[in-house]
Amino acid sequence: MADLIVLLGPPGAGKGTQAKVLSQDLGLAHISSGDLFRDHLQRKTELGILAQGYMQRGDLVPDDVTISMIRDRMSNPDCAKGAILDGFPRTVPQAQALDAWLADSKLGAVRKAPYIKVSEKALVERLSGRWSCRAAGHVYHEKFNPPKQSGKCDLDGSELYQREDDKAETVKNRIRVYFEQTTPLIEYYRRKGVLAEIDGEKPIAEVTEELLASVKNK
Ligand code: AP5
Repeated sequence: MADLIVLLGPPGAGKGTQAKVLSQDLGLAHISSGDLFRDHLQRKTELGILAQGYMQRGDLVPDDVTISMIRDRMSNPDCAKGAILDGFPRTVPQAQALDAWLADSKLGAVRKAPYIKVSEKALVERLSGRWSCRAAGHVYHEKFNPPKQSGKCDLDGSELYQREDDKAETVKNRIRVYFEQTTPLIEYYRRKGVLAEIDGEKPIAEVTEELLASVKNK
């Protein structure tokens, strides 16, 4: 049985930031659907070209291609012990497909779904000040988590850049899409008894502590 944790929360809630720490602490793979799409985009694969328009608008990539990309990634040996899913599932059909696939492949079920709660006002400020590293997607914020040297990743020295979809107009649409299509997952996981609400407005280290306590509480 694999240990599977689904991180829920709006764009900019801190899913990526926290998933990196949790995956190290718990020794689980970190699977970010957004990072996988951005990697396809950079390599100009068929999937990357298909995803590009949706991502630029802040819309969701269709469920069928997203589900099959995640299933492929979860079949890698590094997921045998389990994984932190960051950005997937994002719709009820994606969550149902994940559950069906986990049952079929005897991997078990989602053990915990921490929901990182952050107000809309804070999200906009976080996304407009975010910088990500080219090499591995390490995340910084010019005010809340600045790199030691401006424009350079502390961990691998690669260049920091601002994501195309962090422009104000696109952020508005991403938040709208989140409320329409992703918030039903909060009820979905609550009904399964695995939801844990986390206050995402606290400083990064405090959110990490709360998350670790919640996922270690089996
Ligand atoms: P994706 O990359 O998943 O974007 P997202 O969900 O919008 O999430 P973000 O990466 O923007 O935010 P985050 O919660 O990870 O926050 P972060 O840690 O970076 O998806 C991009 C696109 O891909 C989608 O729009 C869609 O088109 C497509 N896609 C992806 N998955 C899909 C799916 N399943 N189905 C269909 N389409 C899909 O933090 C944000 C900033 O805040 C950083 O600067 C950070 O330093 C700072 N910060 C973090 N925590 C705190 C804190 N506690 N206090 C202060 N600042 C903080």
